[in-house]
Amino acid sequence: MTPSARTVAVSGDTPYTIHIGPGLLGQGELLARHVRGRHVLLLSDSSVAPLYLAGVTSALLAARPDLLIGELVLPAGEASKTLAHFGDAITALAALGATRDACVMALGGGVAGDLAGFAAACWMRGVDCVQLPTSLLAMVDSSVGGKTAVDIPEGKNLVGAFHPPRAVIADTAALRTLPPRELRAGLAEVIKYGAIRDPLFFQWLQAEHAALLAGDDTALAQAIARSCEHKAEIVARDPLEKGERALLNLGHTFGHAIETEQGYGAPGNDNLNHGEAVAVGMVLAARLSAQLGMSGDADTNQLRELLLRYELPVAIPAGLQPEALLARMRLDKKNVAGRLRLVLWRGIGRAEVVADVDEADVLRVLAAG
Ligand code: GLY
Repeated sequence: MTPSARTVAVSGDTPYTIHIGPGLLGQGELLARHVRGRHVLLLSDSSVAPLYLAGVTSALLAARPDLLIGELVLPAGEASKTLAHFGDAITALAALGATRDACVMALGGGVAGDLAGFAAACWMRGVDCVQLPTSLLAMVDSSVGGKTAVDIPEGKNLVGAFHPPRAVIADTAALRTLPPRELRAGLAEVIKYGAIRDPLFFQWLQAEHAALLAGDDTALAQAIARSCEHKAEIVARDPLEKGERALLNLGHTFGHAIETEQGYGAPGNDNLNHGEAVAVGMVLAARLSAQLGMSGDADTNQLRELLLRYELPVAIPAGLQPEALLARMRLDKKNVAGRLRLVLWRGIGRAEVVADVDEADVLRVLAAG
């Protein structure tokens, strides 16, 4: 292992390790260590596959020449996270003759990770999944914790399963080829950890924005490790989101509503991507908290200013109607008995789940943009 690699342990009923460091996708022994049987399905997307798929395949085969490796490459973008492509993954596993000791490897961002994880959760009622995240967003959030899903037109991630990975291997060298917009989207999820539970990390992010935006290796590795430590601690205690894990959804109820309402886009279109929608969602959650007297406007402004410093959007895109967004929010998975449950905060580092939020209050925030 390279000297600068580090690990974060996820404990609990299904413990696993998150490996973080440059060059890990070329380490065949590390990749193959998590493959129990002979069958591997590598699921990737059309942006990531040309860069890394051949290298991962040859590294795996160098370590385990007996492996049978199948490939499935989907069009890049959230629009691929569908039941139809889930079906393609299942067909690929069948074509491979994958047995119960098979391993699905997700090589890419959150879309590849969520889809591969869901296919692994369902094939023969569950086979192993190894996450090989190549985007910052996937490294700090979606690859860790075992949430897997596909989107349907009615809402994001509405069909899925909890299926913890067998390992997460985050090759930070992959971030060097990440488009700047994708890097910023991942930084929104990094900022989320500071906003939820770590004021010191929030301050560090205020100080380090130039280094992080420039893709500085050391600063990014530190941001990823700290984010993964937070996520690991929470999902170890609450893997199925019966309690505190919901806090990780700060900004997500608003954000998912924006993503669903604007339609799931391909890369390069003008729609907000997931991280950008979460950035707007966090500001809306902060404003709602202030409106309910839980926090002050100064807290909202600090969050808004930090997001702006990271060149992230902080307002609802033009053309989205408040009533339509509220209708989307009614299908959020946190809601109970038809009442909105939202993650709000009492200021930086103090997020909490609030049940029975009045729709009129939410509408007021949405209408103000
Ligand atoms: N992305 C939030 C969670 O994994 O719980």
